[in-house]
Amino acid sequence: MKKIIIAIVAIVFVITFYACYYDKKDVLYPTNTSTGAVCDTSGTVSYSQKVVPILQQACYGCHSVNSPSGNIAMSTYATDKVIAQNGKLYGSIAYLSGFSAMPKGGNKLTDCQIATIKKWIDAGMPNN
Ligand code: HEC
Repeated sequence: MKKIIIAIVAIVFVITFYACYYDKKDVLYPTNTSTGAVCDTSGTVSYSQKVVPILQQACYGCHSVNSPSGNIAMSTYATDKVIAQNGKLYGSIAYLSGFSAMPKGGNKLTDCQIATIKKWIDAGMPNN
């Protein structure tokens, strides 16, 4: 009888504390609300793996080397670095005053995409 009571107490104990275990995924890993993708800017931001895919989708169509809208050429490391260095890349995607908001006519990049690009710029725009 005593063993059964101890077992019941132990089970109640475990259930009670298990219920308090706080592991909500969206709290631990804040998600990007528009895509549902996890915003991971930890570690080094890779130009080729992280930055290029964003720019390719949002910018290169209008800012290719052969047909650069507003005389802003993008799509190679050298060209992307120029506008990153002179502040136009961040200014335009973050909608800072004094810059044309980009992508022109499209939706603002997500906070996660902007944070990713900013981190790459702050790291000194490595060609990685
Ligand atoms: C639909 C075409 C289009 C897309 C997409 C687009 N741009 Fe532009 N962009 C333009 C045009 C046209 C201009 C020149 C007129 C102006 O400044 O508004 C321009 C100008 C710029 C300038 C110069 C702005 C300034 O204030 O000097 C930068 C920097 C720029 N774009 C970056 C980007 C980036 C980064 C993206 C992607 C996030 C992007 N653009 C997407 C058409 C586009």
